[in-house]
Amino acid sequence: MRFLPLFLDLSSGTIALVGNSPAAINKLQLLRSAGASVRWFSDDEDASAELLTAGGPGRVEIDTSRASDIDASQFAAVVIAYGDKRDDAIAGRIRAAGGLINVVDRPDLSNFIFPAIVDRGDVVVAIGTNGASPVLARRIREQIEALLPARLGDLAALMGRYRERFAKARHASRSLRRFWERVVDGPIGAAALAGRWREAETALARAVEDSRSPEAPSGVVFLVGAGPGDPDLLTLRALHTLQNADVIFYDDLVTQEILARARRDAELVFVGKRKGEPGIGQDAINRRLIEAASAGKQVVRLKGGDPFIFGRGGEELEQLRQAGVSAFVVPGITAALGCAAEVGLPLTFRQEATQLTFITANTSDGAEAVDWSAASNPHTTVAVYMGLSAAGTVRDRLIAAGRDPKTPVAVLVRGTRPDAKALVGRLDELPTLAVAAGSGPALLVIGEVVARSEPWRASLSRQEVEVAA
Ligand SMILES: C[S@@+](CC[C@H](N)C(=O)[O-])C[C@H]1O[C@@H](n2cnc3c(N)ncnc32)[C@H](O)[C@@H]1O
Repeated sequence: MRFLPLFLDLSSGTIALVGNSPAAINKLQLLRSAGASVRWFSDDEDASAELLTAGGPGRVEIDTSRASDIDASQFAAVVIAYGDKRDDAIAGRIRAAGGLINVVDRPDLSNFIFPAIVDRGDVVVAIGTNGASPVLARRIREQIEALLPARLGDLAALMGRYRERFAKARHASRSLRRFWERVVDGPIGAAALAGRWREAETALARAVEDSRSPEAPSGVVFLVGAGPGDPDLLTLRALHTLQNADVIFYDDLVTQEILARARRDAELVFVGKRKGEPGIGQDAINRRLIEAASAGKQVVRLKGGDPFIFGRGGEELEQLRQAGVSAFVVPGITAALGCAAEVGLPLTFRQEATQLTFITANTSDGAEAVDWSAASNPHTTVAVYMGLSAAGTVRDRLIAAGRDPKTPVAVLVRGTRPDAKALVGRLDELPTLAVAAGSGPALLVIGEVVARSEPWRASLSRQEVEVAA
């Protein structure tokens, strides 16, 4: 990151604006509507006079002296927008004098840049792309504009008015963060965003008064599915729990990109297994979840895919219930769904694949002990979890159960992650594909529908090219 977003106090001084280009006039309007006091170094009297009548709370004074003589120490910042080589000369001088300078559309000459802005009064969102793509920044701004409620700034202002009062009133056992989260997420926030100001303010004043008494500990555990790896495949609810968590216990399948979406000061505790090292064990995990919730914390137990699909979420939920801890399950996109979607592999298909079976090859007695008869029907798509190292047994058992050795298969490795790969072939080649896949996690998919996937189509066209050659 070259440009760190900071917010400039516009009352700290005047902004110098240099130039008459359309870009300069844009900046003038922006600064004026933000309430800035601007000295505009303009050599075009007509345009300047016209602009003085334009609206906005900011003040503009025109200066017809030479912009090359600007004394940077007199200004909070200098914005230059000639759009020609004069920019370079003035920028060099101001930077040398240690001033804050922006040259419009020239991040190389600037030591600050203007972000795209979403403005909701007290709530301002700044979006930057390090100066690389203002168009992309504007697209992101449009998306955020659509997401943020119109009265968000008014809610922020209401909270601002009660901030100090709550800080003075609150009992030591009351968490500042949790109090304000409940205001935002609960009925007070809902009333404010709906414009019911009196109701919102009365409820907030009452909540501040109530905070004088101690809070009963009320920890909770969310068993959250993180999806197969791509952070964009987190559900909105999963994201919400990650952003409110005090502590997150996570597995080895959870990627760093997903952890990066968690609240910055949440405690992150790894409880998975790393190659060659013993994990802390299921009993210890259960114990730690219960301890954290009993201490009043908001706990997230974060698992790859979905917590209830080969993820031991069911066992953890039982233990939490027995301990009397409130627990909620947030589903995730299981590996089979994420990996199949990525390679355009429809897991069911009219008449061709009318059943779908998720099987784990990793039972306590090994893949040999699995009942493969449920997967014998040629219209069944089989998704095998934890099957990479048992690919030989999976092949033998499925063929013994009656599947055609020529059934299309796919090995989908590290699906939805940046280094994902997909290998396709026939059931009798499954062990060879598994070896070629290297390290997992990987999912084996067996069924006619594999022939509809993109890797299969690509392998066919490769063969056609080879035959033609
Ligand atoms: C312990 S299971 C957990 C399954 C998880 N709860 C789910 O719903 O996807 C781990 C297995 O899931 C599969 N898996 C998980 N993430 C995967 C990914 N990104 N790509 C391929 N397979 C994955 C692999 O078969 C791996 O061995």
